Amino acid sequence: MHDSLQVLLSQEQIAKKVEQLGRELSHEYQGKEPLMVCILKGAVVFFADLIRCITIPVKIDFMAVSSYGKATKTSGVVQILKDLDSSIEGRHLVIVEDIIDTGLTLNYLLENLKSRRPASLKICVLLDKIECRQVEVIPDYQGFVIPDEFVVGYGLDCADKYRNLRDVCILSRP
Ligand code: IMP
Repeated sequence: MHDSLQVLLSQEQIAKKVEQLGRELSHEYQGKEPLMVCILKGAVVFFADLIRCITIPVKIDFMAVSSYGKATKTSGVVQILKDLDSSIEGRHLVIVEDIIDTGLTLNYLLENLKSRRPASLKICVLLDKIECRQVEVIPDYQGFVIPDEFVVGYGLDCADKYRNLRDVCILSRP
């Protein structure tokens, strides 16, 4: 049996939203040269599009984290697989994440990064499954609120599949 994919957000809808987020960030970080931090791997497509919609100077860095748990749910136990390349003390940080579900991953990450004393720390997330939250994490910049469905595409995966789809799709498995 095959997986079934149903488009939730089209590439056109996503592109429009990403441009809007880029404009907002360009306005709010004028003169601050923010450090844009991509959380690998899921945010990579969003990140690449977003930074090109920002019209002020930015720097970029990458972090990779893994959360242990069942295949499609996180447990809150987070391991840093790749850390930032340099110190963030005194820098204006924008964490770029693909999706917030329970909030456990970002909650851990935020506590970890705050202890390194950045000048400011904000979250920009493309997708927010607000109804699934287990700990309070409120994104400062948010693309879309989506229902409690498992989604893939535009960087998001299921067992490393589907990241290269242009749309965000709901995945149903037989
Ligand atoms: P949280 O810790 O529950 O907020 O989960 C965040 C992480 O779980 C994301 O960075 C994704 O890697 C993964 N995740 C949560 N929901 C989905 C989904 O619908 N599709 C793909 N990955 C998801």
